[in-house]
Amino acid sequence: IEHQKTNHYLPRVIQQCLAYLNETDLEMLPTGKHIIDGENIFANVMEFETGEANSKQAEVHKEYIDVQCLIRGEERIQYSLEDEINPIAKSYDEENDFYLVESMNQCNNVIMYPKMFAVFLPEEPHKPGCVVSQSGLIKKIVIKVHRKLLTQ
Ligand code: CU
Repeated sequence: IEHQKTNHYLPRVIQQCLAYLNETDLEMLPTGKHIIDGENIFANVMEFETGEANSKQAEVHKEYIDVQCLIRGEERIQYSLEDEINPIAKSYDEENDFYLVESMNQCNNVIMYPKMFAVFLPEEPHKPGCVVSQSGLIKKIVIKVHRKLLTQ
């Protein structure tokens, strides 16, 4: 989030999220929901133990983009690209904007360290909160950005 020179090329609304992350004392930010711009942009702050990737299912959103940023600890996130062949494990929950897939075609890994961010677009499956080498407590923030802000 601190690489201004390159982040400057990102879409304005993503830059707005990064400004929020840079200006906020993330370590002090309480867990729970934080409104940034009504239902258009809000954040969820979480603290939990990382778990084995094979004990979790990947989530997919339809309406919101995730800007995920690690605050403390280390985290593996598995992800893949939008792909209709991923078998659905739980059908779409409209209120919470997610469905789950059983597996991901061409699954990849990104290892997150504090102040790293990753963007997951609608329909891109991602499995956050996975163990890197051993389970540990992490704190993270996920900024939810309504997709209309990137397509208008
Ligand atoms: Cu997500």
